[in-house]
Amino acid sequence: MPDPSIPATAPTRVLFVCLGNICRSPAAEGLFLHRLQQRGLSDAFVVDSAGTGSWHVGKPADARMIRAAEARGVLLPSRARQITAADLQSFDQILTMDASNLANVRRLAPAEAITARIEPMTAYCRRHHADEVPDPYYGGTDGFNDVLDLLEDACDGLLEALLERRNPG
Ligand code: 4NP
Repeated sequence: MPDPSIPATAPTRVLFVCLGNICRSPAAEGLFLHRLQQRGLSDAFVVDSAGTGSWHVGKPADARMIRAAEARGVLLPSRARQITAADLQSFDQILTMDASNLANVRRLAPAEAITARIEPMTAYCRRHHADEVPDPYYGGTDGFNDVLDLLEDACDGLLEALLERRNPG
């Protein structure tokens, strides 16, 4: 008899990517993990985040983003790391925050060596109309909250899309 605690389908591997991996992608990671926990779906996904740049490797998320997320009851567990070419094969789905991230991620490997589906995070927004998740690093508190609003919307749309792909129909 199969062990009911082992999911029948392999976990879907999701990677969120921004520039520094201290503001936008750690927030997306934390929000998505939070939603999975609320829905009892934590075992169905592996979730991580990374930056295209290396300046902040090893650091926790920016304190301003941690505070803004905490105010919504969301913890940000990430430690910054830089994305590698191997990630483009080991993850199923990669979500980029802006056009520059998208170009830099695609540049990491030749198209034939990429198996991940790579898309802008905003493609999954259902309430907001935005092409990019703006970089809040040099702005004020409002920018961090705006990013969280946008990412909450996109995380919900993303989760529905990924669940539909896991269990079509
Ligand atoms: P993130 O924001 O890409 O959302 O993590 C940034 C963090 C740091 C820098 C730029 C963007 N920086 O230039 O150090």
